[in-house]
Amino acid sequence: FLSIKDLTPTEFKTLIDNATTHKKALQSQSSPSAHPAWGLSTSLAGRTIPLLFSKRSTRTRISTEGAVVAMGGHSMFLGKEDIQLGVNESLFDTSVVLSSMTAGIVARVGPHKEIADLAEHSSVPVINGLCDTFHPMQIIADFACLSQSLGCGADGLRGLKVAWVGDANNVLYDMCIGAGKLGMDMAVATPKDYAIPSHIKDMIREAGQGNFSETNTPEEAVKDADVIVTDTWISMGQEEERQNRLRAFEGYQVTEKMAERGGANKDWKFMHCLPRHQEEVSDEVFYGSRSLVFPEAQNRLWSAIAALEGFVVNKGDIKKTDA
Ligand code: CP
Ligand code: NVA
Repeated sequence: FLSIKDLTPTEFKTLIDNATTHKKALQSQSSPSAHPAWGLSTSLAGRTIPLLFSKRSTRTRISTEGAVVAMGGHSMFLGKEDIQLGVNESLFDTSVVLSSMTAGIVARVGPHKEIADLAEHSSVPVINGLCDTFHPMQIIADFACLSQSLGCGADGLRGLKVAWVGDANNVLYDMCIGAGKLGMDMAVATPKDYAIPSHIKDMIREAGQGNFSETNTPEEAVKDADVIVTDTWISMGQEEERQNRLRAFEGYQVTEKMAERGGANKDWKFMHCLPRHQEEVSDEVFYGSRSLVFPEAQNRLWSAIAALEGFVVNKGDIKKTDA
């Protein structure tokens, strides 16, 4: 599972709704082990899931480790100092060896090619925990969170307008592809030199059932938006570009005033995958009543369960969970 583009619209919706089902089931019980009939607490029993992370992580690591525990399995965190991922051993060798002893792999890497190669040579399912091009587990969580906040299922998101104001990056690409699959409208504002590359736009068009538009004016993107989303302007690996990026993104901070100037829907919600920096969104918005950021982060747990269930337990046969 390398990107939302790998899913049919039905599979994507099922993963989103399964995340919400797991949330409700787990939150209604004191512990996952109270679910013998459900089978969640034993679905990974006796199985190991390595988390191969060559970049930092708070949410992806915690949610995935927590999900494996809730499913009765054992997660094994392997940071970049722990394992020879492309350092002293080929990716092919690592992939073959790792997959010969485990039930599935969750990996956070740099270039997309690394996770693609890992998946190609692995004999067990590989789930992308972020690469430089995609972040699919985040997008399941985002749309699950949004559907919960609106009190609908994934189907109910059709026709909503999402405005992205900020950098064109991994989170945005999977979000645009996902929005297209759900029939949501997506408007993207980036500075001119930081726009979505054309090969990604082709993927978005292929996924698309909703409207997709781009601009260099944040106020234009947020017009009639139901949701405004941003992310860091400096993704992991771009630290050296910091000064240039801060200059290029001036005027892109998400604020109440900017949303008002642009004519966002009066009940607009704010989302951000985190980690957050002050330059991309004001405190007023980030900590305000519109903000979904903390439930969004918590949804990473339910989404990780849904992804592990769909791809590792059920081997890619994505079906409605029995909970
Ligand atoms: N949103 C997200 O993936 O956070 P981490 O980088 O902390 O995992
Ligand atoms: N775009 C960010 C997302 C972090 C979760 C990055 O790649 O660093």
